[in-house]
Amino acid sequence: MGTFSPAGRRGRGEGIWESVELLPGRGRRLVFDANNCIGNRYLSGYLDRVLGDVVQVILKARSCVVLTGAGISAESGVPTFRGKEGLWGKFRPEELATMEAFMANPKIVWEWYNWRRDLMGSVMPNKGHYALVELRSWFQRYTLVTQNVDNLHRLAGSDEVLELHGNIYRNICMDCRQFFDAAVEIDPTAIPQCKRCGGKIRPDVVWFGELLPSEVIDEAFERSAEADLFLSVGTSALVHPAATLPLVAKRNGAILIEVNPEETALSEVADYHFPCPSGEFLPQLLTELRESTCVH
Ligand SMILES: NC(=O)c1ccc[n+]([C@@H]2O[C@H](COP(=O)([O-])OP(=O)(O)OC[C@H]3O[C@@H](n4cnc5c(N)ncnc54)[C@H](O)[C@@H]3O)[C@@H](O)[C@H]2O)c1
Ligand SMILES: [Zn+2]
Repeated sequence: MGTFSPAGRRGRGEGIWESVELLPGRGRRLVFDANNCIGNRYLSGYLDRVLGDVVQVILKARSCVVLTGAGISAESGVPTFRGKEGLWGKFRPEELATMEAFMANPKIVWEWYNWRRDLMGSVMPNKGHYALVELRSWFQRYTLVTQNVDNLHRLAGSDEVLELHGNIYRNICMDCRQFFDAAVEIDPTAIPQCKRCGGKIRPDVVWFGELLPSEVIDEAFERSAEADLFLSVGTSALVHPAATLPLVAKRNGAILIEVNPEETALSEVADYHFPCPSGEFLPQLLTELRESTCVH
């Protein structure tokens, strides 16, 4: 990372230009090599100008889709799957999050889900979740799509959320599709049974090898195809079909903004990539928006 001297702003290859690379040949795409983009005062001065562009994009856009992944909850203390502190470093997914695993060893799978529920139950939404509630008011049409199962968007106040991968606080009967809340009595030594039909109860989350709920993913695709603006926040953009949503939006003319401290498969095609923690970046974006429409 370069040294952030004001003199560095004068020319490429020194000072801030070692850290901020503008690629005019690739449209509006921006690359910052910084761990904390808001905290650095020189970089944040530069960001102000880029944010000014993004504010204009938002003011012109009528419909916006936001796709979130595990990264938006990282600042709440929920581990991501693939980051350094990721859950999958400790457990093998095929042992836990599959139907085969569940049928073969329901005790371990229920224990794992109970552990994750406890973990998630003790965390609160962060500034990023709250910012996405407020962002809604800037668009005629706003769709929040999440791959997260942690319920934090709803807790923050986003009442309409397309939950692509379910919700860890819900259980569902595999036969009659009746929902049960997480307080359902679970015998960890056996698969709990539905009181209505005797079917097996499982967590209402999508496991490996399973299809996403069709009405939810269909709506997410429809909204993405008609979006003027698409925000991808805290997702590694590796898990399809969710990772296809931003591509569909972009193909149909949307401006694509990515917020992720790391580069992803999406960064190459994004119009803007902000390598920032979402809990810092999104509130900053809202501040800029408010200030831009303030009458002095
Ligand atoms: N909170 C949850 O509900 C939760 C937690 C773990 C995994 N999952 C599941 O994991 C699957 C994997 O896909 P994924 O893309 O959502 O997660 P992922 O774990 O594959 O990727 C997380 C991404 O977030 C980024 N990130 C880390 N900290 C961030 C921050 N402060 N701000 C912004 N970005 C940050 C990382 O760089 C990474 O690219 C999904 O199916 C999801 O259901 C959900
Ligand atoms: Zn049932």
